[in-house]
Amino acid sequence: MFEMKPEYYIGIKMIDEQHKQLFKYADEAYELLNDEFTPDKYDRVDILLEKLYDYTVKHLADEEAYMESIHYNKLFTQKVQHQAFIEKLDEFMESHNKEEENQDEQIMKILTYLTEWLVNHILYVDGQIPQE
Ligand SMILES: [Fe+2]
Repeated sequence: MFEMKPEYYIGIKMIDEQHKQLFKYADEAYELLNDEFTPDKYDRVDILLEKLYDYTVKHLADEEAYMESIHYNKLFTQKVQHQAFIEKLDEFMESHNKEEENQDEQIMKILTYLTEWLVNHILYVDGQIPQE
């Protein structure tokens, strides 16, 4: 359902590969949302959020290191957006720990935010990063 589309490739291999993995996590969230045979999805949401968080932190650090290495002039704008994304993932983890919400609703929120952020950020922000 969710995967890298040809227009998401920015032409920098390391970054493209990592974006591909992030779409795989989005797809995992989608599968989990539609899984009718797991009545309690708490642990799986927990594992998925943790994987997504760790991978995102690593990806954004790698991307920033690349931009730094080429003295990219929009690095600051990128860092601000990256930070906001990490903070949102933090929020998802916190509200998940409180267990207040309906699980499917929560997965839906994560999925919507993740895919919207990825698509917009890749197309309009990462797409401008020059290839060395
Ligand atoms: Fe970025």
